[in-house]
Amino acid sequence: MISKILKEKTTAEHQQAEKNNDARFIIDHSITHDQYLGLLYKNYIVYNKLENLIHNFMDELPSDLKEFAVYDKSDRLIKDLTQSDFNFDRFEDELAVDITQKDTNVMQAIGVLYVIEGSMLGGMMIANHLQHCSELGSIEEHHFFGGNPKAHVQRWKKFIAVLDGLTLNEQEKEEIIKGAKEAFKYFDKIFELELVI
Ligand code: HEM
Repeated sequence: MISKILKEKTTAEHQQAEKNNDARFIIDHSITHDQYLGLLYKNYIVYNKLENLIHNFMDELPSDLKEFAVYDKSDRLIKDLTQSDFNFDRFEDELAVDITQKDTNVMQAIGVLYVIEGSMLGGMMIANHLQHCSELGSIEEHHFFGGNPKAHVQRWKKFIAVLDGLTLNEQEKEEIIKGAKEAFKYFDKIFELELVI
């Protein structure tokens, strides 16, 4: 099944993404409010670009995958940032950083979709730590690292069922894996940015 193959083939990339990610400061409960805003904004930069990339393939995506080609993650991030009065104008240059490849194809876009859908599983685990982060006590609702865990799990299961139901040749599988690996790289690039909030 392609989902199993993807998980296996991107294990190293996942470990790297975990290491680079400031979400580790949520897990150890040391995160400051500014670090949290920086983390949300970096995520916004990357999810917005990747959701755009996927959206551009709307016509070519297999019909059952179209419902996943939405701005779910960036919408959640905008809500979080807006409620904390984040100054989007100050960081326009960072948002303009071009990270995605120009010659992406629809199979690679499906690999990207796998990464951004799967990343919400980590988000659920991270969300459990938010209540122990004393610097974030003033934030009443977390939309990105939050939401309804049951809904996240259901969405993931549905996505995997659709993904595994696709009829794919070897070349297409390779392209999906390539797209997923590239997506992890985009996260690495953005997480290396120095953002001074
Ligand atoms: C500190 C950061 C992170 C933590 C602690 C974390 C943790 C997790 C956990 C606990 C799972 C569920 C594992 C399982 O059910 O086997 C998961 C799955 C996943 N995460 Fe992360 N994650 C993090 C960051 C990321 C990032 C930044 C990305 C994307 C760039 C990502 C992509 C994925 C994917 C694609 C899956 C699905 C794997 C699969 O079952 O196929 N994660 N993560």
